[in-house]
Amino acid sequence: SQRTLVLLKPDAVRRGLVGEIIGRIERKAGWTLAALELRELDQETLELHYGEHKGKPFYEPLMGFMSSGPVVALVVEGERVIEGVRQLAGPTDPIAAAPGSIRGDFGTIVRENLIHASDSEESALRELKIFFPGLV
Ligand code: GTP
Ligand code: MG
Repeated sequence: SQRTLVLLKPDAVRRGLVGEIIGRIERKAGWTLAALELRELDQETLELHYGEHKGKPFYEPLMGFMSSGPVVALVVEGERVIEGVRQLAGPTDPIAAAPGSIRGDFGTIVRENLIHASDSEESALRELKIFFPGLV
């Protein structure tokens, strides 16, 4: 099975959507939580995590947003979780995301799109090392 890194972004925590979102993930057959923590992200962690976007126009606002409050970091384990959590989340732009997806149900703003999930096996391994170095 696979492991993926999920972040419930500061908007999800502020709006009290942590239980709702984790509930959707937890209810998928055979998926389990391997780690779960509320934490504030420092600049170094954020730069490592979102380094691929450095220089893009949305990068600085994204950094500001992601450090505007605590996030919930979790590791989800199970059958095809990497693709699966991305499907539950929906596309980056919440207005383009279908109702029924997390972003489609709760989001409107591209930056404040509630959830991060690793987008490939390679990203998952890289991100798991950043957020939960003891686990891998
Ligand atoms: P993550 O799971 O957070 O990585 O989202 P993603 O994989 O769906 O999108 P991507 O990695 O391309 O972008 C990372 C984050 O930057 C997004 O989730 C948005 O919060 C933000 N972002 C991406 N593209 C844009 C954009 O065009 N405008 C703005 N304002 N924010 C963007
Ligand atoms: Mg991404």
